[in-house]
Amino acid sequence: MTPTGLPDSLIATLPGSAYTDPAVFTQEQEHIFESLWFCAARASELDKPGAFRTVDVGRESILVTRARDHSIRAYFNVCRHRGARLCTEESGEVRRAFQCPYHAWTYGLDGKLVAAPNLTKMPDVSRTEYGLVDVHVREWLGYVWLCLAENPPPFEQAVIGDVVERLGDVESIEHYGIEDLKVGRRITYDVKANWKLIVENFMECYHCATIHPELTEVLPEFADGYAAQYYVGHGAEFGDGIQGFTVDGSEGLDRIPGVAEDQDRRYYAITVRPQVFVNLVPDHVIFHRMYPLAVDRTVVECDWLYLPHVVESGKDVSRSVELFHRVNQQDFDACERTQPGMNSRTYAKGGVLVPSEHHIGAFHAWVNERLGTPQG
Ligand code: FES
Ligand SMILES: [Fe+2]
Repeated sequence: MTPTGLPDSLIATLPGSAYTDPAVFTQEQEHIFESLWFCAARASELDKPGAFRTVDVGRESILVTRARDHSIRAYFNVCRHRGARLCTEESGEVRRAFQCPYHAWTYGLDGKLVAAPNLTKMPDVSRTEYGLVDVHVREWLGYVWLCLAENPPPFEQAVIGDVVERLGDVESIEHYGIEDLKVGRRITYDVKANWKLIVENFMECYHCATIHPELTEVLPEFADGYAAQYYVGHGAEFGDGIQGFTVDGSEGLDRIPGVAEDQDRRYYAITVRPQVFVNLVPDHVIFHRMYPLAVDRTVVECDWLYLPHVVESGKDVSRSVELFHRVNQQDFDACERTQPGMNSRTYAKGGVLVPSEHHIGAFHAWVNERLGTPQG
């Protein structure tokens, strides 16, 4: 027995309140989602200047757009006049400017205040000073990553570092050329569960044999319950007779040419904290982004990315998509089944992690450290 009173095989999870207490969620919004890099959108969604998307990052609404110089820009979605929300649609396109629907202050795609009723009578109002407030933007893997902090953590360490920690080096992900792939399918899941349950579920494979019959058929080693994420650089190998990463093990799509020989016929899963999962297989990439909206609700947007000619030719990707769509449904059902238990008096002190889940303890320590919670 350890000092915590648990047998050596088990370590404690977070307490139930970490998954149900709105005050904890507010802390996470502030110290995690509003402080770290947050993957907000696929850059190709913003296909021309004026195309925009609004996303909730922590407690803020953020407007992401492409400026006239084709760079991606992001702003707090708040009018500088009296604070009205500038854009209420989730996505759309403006021709040259964003006009506030309240008193018609108008901002260029570069955020500058370009017009307002009677603005010429206020010559002392700086158009930059009263422009939209900027958010830090990075593009990586064809996605737009935002950071609301004034001084963002170094991207190389905070984001790319998570990938390197898992794969051993950055080249291993670069081989897939994710920025050049095209979205073949996007499915959005509205999951009635705390975001951390979704992360924890993604990190372990103790559940694979129970809830993922199709996945364990394709990746037989997953039936043993050891998550590939447990070992640096390890990818789970396709079973004998499996032709591709599809729902029935039938042939997949054209293989991504950069994929190395030793990455072929393997599946790699990567967690990029706090809200991204990347899944690599030889012919496509499955990219999950979580949007935590409440302590017990998380929207997950999942993209299936293929070589451009696969998507453009209209090839049937349905068997390919179906495999991970089922995995998603199976996982999210499990998370939704777990969420109500977090409120139970029997879970007040939390649950336990078995040895093949012990690495989830590092995630819990990371969350506690972000929130400044003393380690229990
Ligand atoms: S609040 Fe936007 S113009 Fe007045
Ligand atoms: Fe799973």
